[in-house]
Amino acid sequence: MTSRRGEGALWTGPVAITGASGHVGTALQRCLNGYGNEVRSLGRRDDLAAAFHDAAAVVHLAGTLRPEPPSTYADANLRTVERTIEALEGSSVERVVFLSYVGASARAGNAYLRTKGEAEDLLYRCGRDVVIFRCSHIYGPPSDPGSLVSAVLAGEQRRVWVLGSGRQRIAPVYREDVVEAVIRAALDPGTYHGRFDLPGPDVVRMDDFVRIMNGGRVTLRHVPSRLARTLAHATASLTPELVDVMVSDSLGDEVRVDRAFALERHHLGDIYAGAAAAAA
Ligand SMILES: NC(=O)c1ccc[n+]([C@@H]2O[C@H](COP(=O)([O-])OP(=O)(O)OC[C@H]3O[C@@H](n4cnc5c(N)ncnc54)[C@H](OP(=O)(O)O)[C@@H]3O)[C@@H](O)[C@H]2O)c1
Repeated sequence: MTSRRGEGALWTGPVAITGASGHVGTALQRCLNGYGNEVRSLGRRDDLAAAFHDAAAVVHLAGTLRPEPPSTYADANLRTVERTIEALEGSSVERVVFLSYVGASARAGNAYLRTKGEAEDLLYRCGRDVVIFRCSHIYGPPSDPGSLVSAVLAGEQRRVWVLGSGRQRIAPVYREDVVEAVIRAALDPGTYHGRFDLPGPDVVRMDDFVRIMNGGRVTLRHVPSRLARTLAHATASLTPELVDVMVSDSLGDEVRVDRAFALERHHLGDIYAGAAAAAA
């Protein structure tokens, strides 16, 4: 173990990351490089058992709200977790960290929420300390905003189509705050384990979020939820499950995660300062 930032001893062993090529995974790898732990970045075809055997922690990020056919929600969000749990057998892994979504439940009708909920339940019984972060929508910095923001950035015509009424309330969480929470959960033996919502500190209407992301200079058009669900069956970039998630509120309980991990989550205006001021 080693000490860092005056926060006590951290695990120094290797950290294995599934889904490392994604928006969160690339930022996590970059940030972990500053800690001195060996980082093992894993893709679809890598040997998980070999990567886990002497690792201190596993961060399971593989999963998606938009599986590419023929992959399904179960393939992406549940089978990948089953493979991770199998590969933990006989390994030295102390902690497993998993990114889920607010409202995930094994009883949900929505296949994304259901498979995330089923995966959470499996992980809970895997016999290791497990930290589950149920994130709201995640957004990145202007240089790498991620799919949520990219989908609502206006083109030359300064027009954006918003799924649903635009009145859905969201508490988007900054990617680097998610990364910070994951690192504390993975490396700090003193942090709690369990399930934690991880929303951002600002609750905004989707329309206001879109305005902020576009510096206010944007015309909003809305695709009614029912029409969006119909379109999802005929549009490759949409699924009914994705539409349901996007037209619904995306909020969570921030109190427990702040208490357990002492996070200082960024406000939208901290990251998109000019844009937020222009949109006000
Ligand atoms: N972004 C959000 O707003 C948000 C919110 C809550 C929870 N989450 C969860 O957080 C995790 C990371 O999110 P992200 O934004 O970094 O996602 P991302 O950019 O879409 O990356 C997803 C990663 O999962 C891998 N993956 C997808 N389907 C897979 C499959 N069937 N088998 C194996 N690997 C698969 C991808 O691998 P390839 O590169 O090979 O495709 C990629 O490395 C995901 O599990 C996501 O569900 C995200």
